[in-house]
Amino acid sequence: METRSGIIPMPNQVIEGQGTYLLQGEKRVAVSPNSASMLVFGYLTNALKNTAVTLKPVSPGEQADICFLADSSLADEAYTLDVTSGGIKIASNQTSAGLFYGIQSLLQLMPAGIYDTRQKYEKKIELPAIHIADAPRFSHRGAMMDVARNFQPKEEVLKFLDLMAMYKMNKFHFHLTDDQGWRIEIKKYPRLIEIGSRRSQTQVGFCDYYYPRRFDGKEQRGYYTQEDIKEIVKYASDRFITVIPEIEMPGHASAALAAYPEHSCGLGKTYVVRDYFDVFDEVYCPKEGTFRFLENVLTEVIDLFPSHYIHIGGDECPKKAWKKCEHCQVLMKREGLPDEEALQSWFIHRIEQFVNSKGRDIIGWDEILEGGLAPNATLMSWRGEKGGMEAARKKHHVIMTPGSTCYYDHYQESPEFAPLAIGGFLPLDTAYNYNPLPVELTSQEQSYIIGTQANIWGEYIQTPEHFEYMAFPRLLAMAEVQWTQPAHKDFYSFTRRLDKEFERLDYCEVNSCRNFYEVSLTGTWNSTQNVYEVTLNTFCPDAEIHYAVNDSVILASSPLYTAPVRVAEDAVIYAAVYRKGKPLGKITHKSFTINKATGNFYTCVPLPSSDKVNPGMGLSDGVRGYARELRRWVIFDADTVQMTFDLRKPISVHKAAFAFLWRPYDMLWPARVVTASVSNDGKEFTTVGNQKLTYDFSPTEGTRFPVSLSFPEALGRYVRLEFLSGGGCPRGYYHEGQPSRLAVDEIELY
Ligand code: ACM
Ligand code: ZN
Repeated sequence: METRSGIIPMPNQVIEGQGTYLLQGEKRVAVSPNSASMLVFGYLTNALKNTAVTLKPVSPGEQADICFLADSSLADEAYTLDVTSGGIKIASNQTSAGLFYGIQSLLQLMPAGIYDTRQKYEKKIELPAIHIADAPRFSHRGAMMDVARNFQPKEEVLKFLDLMAMYKMNKFHFHLTDDQGWRIEIKKYPRLIEIGSRRSQTQVGFCDYYYPRRFDGKEQRGYYTQEDIKEIVKYASDRFITVIPEIEMPGHASAALAAYPEHSCGLGKTYVVRDYFDVFDEVYCPKEGTFRFLENVLTEVIDLFPSHYIHIGGDECPKKAWKKCEHCQVLMKREGLPDEEALQSWFIHRIEQFVNSKGRDIIGWDEILEGGLAPNATLMSWRGEKGGMEAARKKHHVIMTPGSTCYYDHYQESPEFAPLAIGGFLPLDTAYNYNPLPVELTSQEQSYIIGTQANIWGEYIQTPEHFEYMAFPRLLAMAEVQWTQPAHKDFYSFTRRLDKEFERLDYCEVNSCRNFYEVSLTGTWNSTQNVYEVTLNTFCPDAEIHYAVNDSVILASSPLYTAPVRVAEDAVIYAAVYRKGKPLGKITHKSFTINKATGNFYTCVPLPSSDKVNPGMGLSDGVRGYARELRRWVIFDADTVQMTFDLRKPISVHKAAFAFLWRPYDMLWPARVVTASVSNDGKEFTTVGNQKLTYDFSPTEGTRFPVSLSFPEALGRYVRLEFLSGGGCPRGYYHEGQPSRLAVDEIELY
């Protein structure tokens, strides 16, 4: 599995040979004079421009050092690469896509220093002898960039295309329109840009954080001219990448409707480019004028993008406006549509017919299943894999992008230290271990799954540097998911190759997330030894971890981590990754709270509705919830919540401490009353304390409210806490009048 070649994504067949080939001076390249081969030749020449190597094209059959060979027996995108002491041979079929991927593998055999643009690479380039026979696992190997929420400059798009190409990715999904911005010039409808491509401000922080919302006061604007789009499409095509444009409909249309409100259902609303992030009720109304508008937009889009697929969105379209709209209701009657879901399906079907009439096919998010799938549609499954499986069973092509493994807007390192993200937790190993072919499907059904992609949503990504931080290094894990057959995938091997690859990413000035070189800390109760243990991990191979308890200074002389660290009382553990005595990344830390509840089992009535981290033990796992990481909180949808801890033997307690998360946006309100009781048999409980709880709800950051309840010393094996939840969401706040929810973590007993 391990190869000294270190190629990402791992090729599907590698045989390492003896000896090396020396690439230096002028080299003759035998290349067919067809345009695709010459394109690849130009790419290689450009890739080596910073080195002392020059390439001279010669005709096939002439004596040459590097041969581009045509082999019609190879599949599209497949290639063979042979490096021997006598020269280099790369073969592909006539499309030359395989040739391009062979070149990518060849370039990864070279030292990363050839990518250093600050100085010429004068050293000799020694290539290991190798035979590679390779072909991709999936034909759709994509990445989505959301430039609608926050615009990204054209230069960043081009840079990203360069990086995708290096890792053999071939579909760039360009999310061009949304509620917060319209980013593509449409000649027939100039207001889409004049009005739709700018907003005067953007919400500050996460949408859940502040009540009321806060705004930055900074104008956000930007769009691509049709000339820009042509340049992007050509740049991508020169790298064997297809740009798939997404024009959102019928929902996520606020920016378009701000420019052309006549295509809404009306209803007396004003239509604005949205300055915060949510799902909005203002959607396109299925009027003839709206279809003319969308068809004219799509006509220009189709003229600009040669992609066979045109993404028409289809996700998150609330039906509120359609329910109230007379036109929509009359239309539903006329067409015999039983409900608004059927109207959505009718809408998408009609757009599909138009796109099909232009010789193209649509892709839609999995909501397009609701009310019936348009006949030729390809489905992009994002709300898990269920929609994708259903579509595959219906013999529709599917691209798997479930949120938990493909949404690269989720955190990849501890939210305590990471820049603000939308939520979730998708670390490198989770990204790597994704298999887009669900075992529930037969192999026949699986054959409809054409691939997978990383979706990099842009709500909280305001700069190119931040975009790169979210994309990398996870995108390299995705590349291997897309390209490499499961039998050849191995996370440890990947980390060794990635460790080297960071150097190349650095030379390419990619702002990768660096938690690869840091320590993650996880605490668990060891119930056999009755002790709390903290495990320290790093993705980084061939490295040591040094750590300290309650001491933030970590040096090479700090204790070397060899086994889980045992802690008997509250502690903060600090740690860093070292190799050969040198630190590789920054120091990370985590706080642990150890008390009489820690590690003990408990029962909850009712059961929590969300319990994601250490399910069943989240309240006593030694880690307190914090405002940033919603998933760590144990959430209940109930008016009263009872938790009963089993301390395993009678223990004396005098205080319970706990915390609630206050986030009006998520209907999370702290409890109003807490009652504590104890029992020796788990049946008869004696109340020992009871308290009304009050809070300061002055407008503030989404808040963790720590609370405690003291009571006279009591002895019991079982301790029960009962919370009366916050009641209805108060007047003037989000979700006014609806039942609030309770988020608790941690429960501590003293
Ligand atoms: C989506 O994430 N709304 C497709
Ligand atoms: Zn309507």
